[in-house]
This record gives sequence, C-alpha cells and structure tokens, in this order.
Amino acid sequence: MTQDELKLAVAQAAISYVVEGEIVGVGTGSTANFFIDELAKIKHKIKAAVASSEATAARLRGHGIEVLDLNDVTSMPVYIDGADEITASGAMIKGGGAALTREKIVASVAKQFICIADGSKLVEKLGGFPLPVEVIPMARESVIRALNDIAGDARLRMKDGQALITDNGNVIVDVHGLQIEDPQELERKINNIVGVVTVGLFAQQGANVCLLGTPDGVKTLTF
Ligand code: A5P
Repeated sequence: MTQDELKLAVAQAAISYVVEGEIVGVGTGSTANFFIDELAKIKHKIKAAVASSEATAARLRGHGIEVLDLNDVTSMPVYIDGADEITASGAMIKGGGAALTREKIVASVAKQFICIADGSKLVEKLGGFPLPVEVIPMARESVIRALNDIAGDARLRMKDGQALITDNGNVIVDVHGLQIEDPQELERKINNIVGVVTVGLFAQQGANVCLLGTPDGVKTLTF
C-alpha cells in the first residue's frame, strides 16, 4: 500500500468518530485533507466545522461545509488531525504544516483528539522530526538562542528564500536533532521561553485515540 492509501484508509476510519448534528474540529495537512474529502460525503449529517488553518478552511468551504469561528462554538465532541510523530502513549509532534498554534487551540476546545496517521508516524521517542516552535517575529533571535541552550539545533524555517510566515503572522523555528526523553517537561520548558507562541509538542494534552494506517489495516490505539 502506498502512503496515500494508508492516509485515505485512516481518513475513512475517522468518519465513524464524527458525531451527527455536532461541530467537527478539523486539522491541517495531507492526511487531514483526505479526511476533509471524506467528511464532504456526509456533510448533511454535521452542523458545521472549525478549521485549524486558512488552507483547511478553504478546502472545507470548497466542499460547501460551513466553517465557524471558534469563538462562536461552545461544544465540539471531536478534533481530527494528523501528526508528524506519535508515541505509543499518545504524545505527538505537530506543526510540519506550520499550523500548530491553531491546531492546539482547536484541539483544546474539543472533548477528544482523534489522530489519523500512517504507520510511519509511530515512533518510540519523539524528536526525529524537527520540533516546530511558533515565535513572535521580534523575538526570533532570542528564542533561537534559548532553544539552542535548552534543546539543540534551532533553525528558522524558510520558504522561497524568506522566513515562512504563519496564518498568525509569526515565524517558525524548527529544533533539529532531538531525542525527547520527557515530552511534557520539554513542552513546559519551551512554553516558558518569552516570545514563544506555541511549541508543536502535544504531550500535556495528547491524542485520545490514534487511527494508525498499516498494511494489515487500520489499528486503533487508545490512550
Ligand atoms: C500541520 O501543521 C501538522 O501539524 C500536520 O498535522 C502534520 O504535519 C501532519 O501532516 P501530514 O498529514 O501531511 O503528514
């Protein structure tokens, strides 16, 4: 099976977690895109969606799915999103698509985080994937220094020769070469650096369920 087939399989499996008549929180990235396309097939059964990025909002609207402002939402049973890495205890690295801040915000409002990922994302220890950190632009250099002190090799994320700018108008610093022993502790430490908006470690609030795409079928991990 190709990686795309595995992503499609978990996206289809995630549909059974969508609660009829309710609002669905929707993540960002290639796996989330497969989910959005599946959600479109049952759009008459949901109330609306909340998007974790402008790209996701545009794709949802393109399918005719109403996208609500999170501030107008009081209840959301599920948030469904991919991950860059996930451990057997449900801690994740996210933000490869630079949407980590809105992803963490929407996930924090939802009752359950359903992670959809192909099997390659399951790791013993987080950190092989560079850890994204969203940073206020004026604090870029001071945060890079602080991250280098705490963790390792922090580098500004570039796009087309310029610093990548997030949907929130900030920059992303990726920390390379990590082997994260204690994800919750590192999440707390990085959150404490002045100028950091969000760290892409989802450990204090990880996934509740992971639908993992494998050649033998979709495996359900619960945490
Ligand atoms: C977006 O910012 C990320 O958190 C994505 O959820 C993550 O990068 C997974 O993306 P893919 O589904 O494209 O692998």
